[in-house]
Amino acid sequence: MGIRIIGTGYYVPERVLTNSDLEKIVDTSDEWIQSRTGIRTRHIAEESTATSDLAMHAGQRAIENAGLTPADIDLVVVSTITPDSPTPSTATIVQRKLGIPPCMAFDIEAACTGLLYGLDIVHAMLAAKHRKTALLIGGDKLSGVTNWTDRSTCILFGDAASALVVQRTDEGDEDFYVASEVSANGYEAGFLQIPGFGSACPPSQEGIDAHAYTIQMNGPKTFQMAVISMSNACRNVMEKAHVTHDQISWAIAHQANDRIISAVADRVGISDRIYRNVARFGNTSSASIGICLDELNRSGQLKRGDLILTAAFGAGLTWAAELLRW
Ligand code: UT7
Repeated sequence: MGIRIIGTGYYVPERVLTNSDLEKIVDTSDEWIQSRTGIRTRHIAEESTATSDLAMHAGQRAIENAGLTPADIDLVVVSTITPDSPTPSTATIVQRKLGIPPCMAFDIEAACTGLLYGLDIVHAMLAAKHRKTALLIGGDKLSGVTNWTDRSTCILFGDAASALVVQRTDEGDEDFYVASEVSANGYEAGFLQIPGFGSACPPSQEGIDAHAYTIQMNGPKTFQMAVISMSNACRNVMEKAHVTHDQISWAIAHQANDRIISAVADRVGISDRIYRNVARFGNTSSASIGICLDELNRSGQLKRGDLILTAAFGAGLTWAAELLRW
C-alpha cells in the first residue's frame, strides 16, 4: 500500500490590499508593517465571496493538478475557522460546488494549524483503507473576522484557500507521512481567539460593540509561543524520524510573520531551505502551508523523495510539525 500527495492547488481573490492602503485605514506605516512582519500585500475577498468559493477554486486546481476528476474523490475535509455557516459544513458545500459524488465530507477547526491537523486525519483514514482519494482544503475568509480598527491585527491577515489531493494506491509501499507531532494546549487559548458568535456568546449588539466576533490576539505572547512550539515540534519530529537537518530539502512554517519564520528556521538549522511567501499573502490561516507546497510543486522545485518539514501554530493553542516525503 502507498499513500501520496498527488495534487496541489491554491486560490486567492483578485483584490490586493497593500500596506499603503492600510495606512489610510489605521495609524500604521508600510515601514512598520514590513519591518515587524515582512508583509507587503494580502488578498481580500469581495463581500459576496464565501469561504466555500475560495475552497472550491483551490480544490478544482488541486484535482486538475492530480490529473483526476471530481468523480475520483471519496473524502472531502475542509479546515476553516470561517465556515460559510455553522451548518451545513463548508466541506459539503464544496462537495456540491465541485460536483463530487456523495461521500464523507466534514469540517475541522484547528485554526492556522488546520491543514496539518487535516493531513494527519486524512492519512489515518486512507491508511485504514476506508477511503481512497481525499481532497483536503484549508480555507479562510479572515477579512470577515478582522477588526479593521485594530492596527495590531488588521495588517496581518489575508483571504485564501489551498488544497491537496491525497491518494492511497495498492501498489508500492511509499508513504508521504514520515513522522509528526500534532498537539494543542487549551489552557493558553485566551492569547488568540474569536470569543463571540458560538453557544457561549451568541450574537448580540453588545458583542458587536466589543468586537467579540473578530480576531483578538496578544501579539507578543503569540509570537513567543509560535516560535517555541514550532521549533520544538520540528526537532521532536526530526528525532522521531532519525533525520538530521541536512537531509531536509525544504521547510515550510506557517506564514504568520517573517520574523517567526526566521526564528524557527534558525533554531532548527534550516535557514537556507525555508520557504517564504508571507510578503505577498500575509497570514492566510490554514491555507498558508498548502500555498507554499503548491508554489514549490508547480515551480518544479520538489523532487520525488524530497523530505519536506512543515510546521504550524494557531489558536487553540494548536501546533504541529510533520515530516513529509514528496
Ligand atoms: O497565525 C496565528 C499566529 N499569529 C501570529 O503568529 C502573530 C504573532 N505576533 C506577531 O506577529 C507580532 O506580535 C505582531 C506583528 C502582531 C506585533 O509585532 P510586535 O513586534 O510584537 O509589536 P508589539 O505588539 O510589541 O507592539 C510594539 C509597538 C506598540 O506601540 P508602543 O506600545 O510600543 O508604543 C504597538 O502599539 O508597535 C505598535 N503597533 C503598531 N505600530 C504601527 C502595533 N501594531 C502596529 C501597526 N503599526 N500596525
